[in-house]
Amino acid sequence: MTTLASSPVLPDAELVQREILTLLPVDTNPFVSVAPIEQKTYLVDGEVREWKGKTTDVTSPLDLGGGEPRLGSHPALGPKEALEAMSAAKAAYDNGLGEWPQTSLLDRTAQVLDFARRMEEVRDVVIERITLEIGKTTADATAEFDRTVEYIRRSCEEALKIHSESQGVQHVDGIEASISRQPLGPTLCMGPFNYPLNETFATMIPALLMGNTVVMKPPKAGVLLFEPLLDAFQESFPAGAVNVIYGDGAEIIGPIMESGDIDVLSFIGSAKVADIVSGAHPEPHRLKKILGLGANNPAIVLPDADLESAIPVVGKGSLSYNGQRCTALKVHLVVGEELAQEYALRFAEYVDGLQLGDPRDEGVDITPLAEGAWKVEYLQELIEDAVAKGARVMNNGGGIAKGNLITPAVLYPVTPEMRIFHEEQFGPVVPVVPISYVEEATQFVAQSKVGQQVSIFSSDDSELYSLAKKLQPLVGRVNLNDGCKRGPDELPFTGKRSAAMGTLSIRAALEEFSSPSVLARSFGGYS
Ligand code: G3H
Repeated sequence: MTTLASSPVLPDAELVQREILTLLPVDTNPFVSVAPIEQKTYLVDGEVREWKGKTTDVTSPLDLGGGEPRLGSHPALGPKEALEAMSAAKAAYDNGLGEWPQTSLLDRTAQVLDFARRMEEVRDVVIERITLEIGKTTADATAEFDRTVEYIRRSCEEALKIHSESQGVQHVDGIEASISRQPLGPTLCMGPFNYPLNETFATMIPALLMGNTVVMKPPKAGVLLFEPLLDAFQESFPAGAVNVIYGDGAEIIGPIMESGDIDVLSFIGSAKVADIVSGAHPEPHRLKKILGLGANNPAIVLPDADLESAIPVVGKGSLSYNGQRCTALKVHLVVGEELAQEYALRFAEYVDGLQLGDPRDEGVDITPLAEGAWKVEYLQELIEDAVAKGARVMNNGGGIAKGNLITPAVLYPVTPEMRIFHEEQFGPVVPVVPISYVEEATQFVAQSKVGQQVSIFSSDDSELYSLAKKLQPLVGRVNLNDGCKRGPDELPFTGKRSAAMGTLSIRAALEEFSSPSVLARSFGGYS
């Protein structure tokens, strides 16, 4: 076992910093030149409209040549255009009498499948835009695109099952009843920057399938990738069923919510923004909310965990897409000081083996952060705070930044006095917390404001299952010897307390965006 005492003395911090800075690949791919993407269009009422007003610049987290991060621009619509989109969605819904909610589930499914087919025609350009705009590796952006198309197909299959279930009848107390699922009304869909395509469509597609009309606003980063899809939306759906608007959230989402015409809000992002958006609705009792918010998922490492197998799993679970996943392992609670030290050292070795660089290059693990300079500064503040309170950065050059790229930092020993113990870092910082008793870990989960998921590591099955049983009432999923994750999409994805509202599996999403309607007939005649 390697212990802190026996570990090689960490090299002089300044020296490491200088070495790492020369290695950091910020002059990303100078040979790949990217023509600016000046988007001028948006989709309202079945028309891809030309925008002549002001625009918002889109910057890439990458250097696109000569230090230039400007990727392009998109329309900055105002309240007038936002309300036109709202009116279009409202008119297309027409209190449930519109063409889309009146179209049968079978026909809607065919139209959604048609959309998926058209979507595949622009696969490459969408993947490239995800990579350029949010710095996700090409491999991960490709996986995001393909998973989304697969999600649409499987949602369609599930919709057909729902349709066939609605054909059955049941007899209850003299009533012959069949139950079908019906739409809820105009829906506002807003996805997050880290899965701009997948998590926007994970709510928008079920909403559409079930007959709701939609106003969609892309996240702050991850905007331009929707432009190649506007024609597909226009061609696959009736006018007003899908409206895609662009601009500053405060300027265009406020008026939409204040109109009181939204019946369903699907939002994935911060709790703070969710509260502002939903709080603007004049009749909150009427607003159905489907929300994916914060998470602070811990890895709980029990005394007999097999670190050899656990480290690559927790490494991926913490650092894939730079730790910018709501399901990322954000804190590592290791039972026993000796084990915790070994865990931190092995984690540091794992991190030293990661490749930093341009997301378009093969084999790259850690890429520049999409959220920009403030995020890098925030992560460095967390690291400095932890170090000032007694933690060490365990890996070589951890926490050094150049541009939007920050090297991952494994911090040990982390204690409750440090900010990183409590704050969701959403970035490549790995806090390792030595604890004496498992009970401290269960209390961490119980006291957390967000109960999304937890991962437990042990080679003793009975330990695993007994802790899992205790934790299941506290969170949406307990993972055994595995990282936290959403998939496969057939499984319910949800959270407790402030982590989420509603459930998103393929089936559950279709149910969330619809309600049962009973067709009843008294078979004894009038009663
Ligand atoms: O960012 C939050 C996502 O829901 C995480 O999804 O577990 O499939 O990466 P994932």
